[in-house]
Formats: sequence, structure tokens, C-alpha cells
Amino acid sequence: MREVTEQQRQGSAVWTARVLTLFPEMFPGPLGQSLAGKALNDGVWRLEATDIRSFAQDKHKTVDDTPFGGGPGMVMRPDVVDAALEAATGDGLKPAIYLTPRGRRVDQALVQEWAAGPGMVLLCGRYEGLDERVIASRGLLEVSLGDIVLSGGEPAAIAVIDACVRLLPGVMGAAETLEEESFERGLLEYPHYTRPAEWKGMKVPEVLLSGHHEKIRAWRLREAEAATKSRRPDLWDAYEKSSSRRKED
Ligand code: ADE
Repeated sequence: MREVTEQQRQGSAVWTARVLTLFPEMFPGPLGQSLAGKALNDGVWRLEATDIRSFAQDKHKTVDDTPFGGGPGMVMRPDVVDAALEAATGDGLKPAIYLTPRGRRVDQALVQEWAAGPGMVLLCGRYEGLDERVIASRGLLEVSLGDIVLSGGEPAAIAVIDACVRLLPGVMGAAETLEEESFERGLLEYPHYTRPAEWKGMKVPEVLLSGHHEKIRAWRLREAEAATKSRRPDLWDAYEKSSSRRKED
């Protein structure tokens, strides 16, 4: 287990996820369970969920309006969201992320960058979207979970926070687990097996029972490469380019 730093014990500069949402009751949700939940309870990270509606300026607490130019659905008002962002970023917490299917697709390299920083402000959209002017004027980083459309940014925010929190010092057990897992080397992970050694007529690959660490390491690397090549040609191309660069150096 990696040490929890003195800074974290004292409660200053704890990695913080500050979520702006119309559904604050969705948090902590799954983040209150398992490793992330335990680390939250232990004060390794902080979660703050703020209701965007509390920044509405009229007596009906309006947060959205119809789109200029017509069309279906409602658009979140820039003035209301801007007031929420002003409050959430006042202490300098960065980056400010807007979760949207129009954003840059999140990957493990981005997650590592965020986990190494002070935390993040996450703005969750609902309705058809957010007025473009607040995205531009606040310089929000638009991030997508993938080419799927969710009913709102909240499940994406939960996924992004989970991916960051498990990388924080003191959250996961063995550091080796992190180093060997998918994407850390630009490869998908090798397949895993446990007891029984034979199940439904299927045997565990012989090499894994050999106790020969070097052969096991080589087998796992070959399997990781084969899986990446067949399942994710995009990752495989990048891996081949970076390993040929490594050989040239
Ligand atoms: N909101 C709706 N769909 C989304 C997605 N794919 N990623 C991030 N936020 C979203």
C-alpha cells in the first residue's frame, strides 16, 4: 500500500472533484462504494456536488430555455451556468471540464494527467446542451466518454472521477497492478486465469502453471500484443510506432 501523504492527512490540497449538476443526489452514487468510497471516507479525496439550479436568478429557478433557431429540446442558460462556474473555480481548481458527446474522447493518458493535478471541476449537461458562449468564454475542456449518447453528463462524470481516484496515492493496493493493466503500456491487458486449473474441459495455459517467471512474462506480453492487434488496430498502430521509436533511440 502506498503511503497517504502528510498533506492529505492534514486535509489541505486534497484531490477534489467538484461537480456541477442538476441532479446532485446522483452523487456519490457508485463513488461511495468499493475502493473509491473507502478512500472518500478516509479523506484521500473530496467530492463536492453542487446544484446548478441554486444559481438560477428568477423566482421559478429557471436553468434552461428554448434554442434560438428552433428545434427540439431545451438549452442550459449561459448566465446560470456561468454563475455556477464562477463559484466552482474561484479557488483556482482546474481543469474545468464539460462532459458532452461533442468532446475529445477521454483516455488513460488524460486521466493520469488529471489524477496528478489538484482535482477537477466537472460540469454535467442535461437537455439538448449548453449555450456555446459559456463554453467559449470559460475555456471549458469538452470531454466525451465515447461515441454514445447518455441522458446527461452525470454517469460520465462518475466514470471520469472513478478512473482518476483509483490512481491517487493510497487508493489502490499494489503499484504493479496499475503498471500491468490495460493502456498503461499502450496495450490491452493479457487474459487472466484462476482455479480450477481445468473447468468445463478448458485448461489453463500450461506456461502459467510452470512457475517460470520469465516465460510467463513473455507469454503475457505476446497475448497482450495479439489482443491489441486484433481488437484495437488504432492502439496497435500507436504501439508499433512508439516501440520502433524506442529501438531507434
Ligand atoms: N453526455 C451525454 N453523452 C455523453 C458522453 N458520451 N460523454 C460525456 N458526456 C455525455
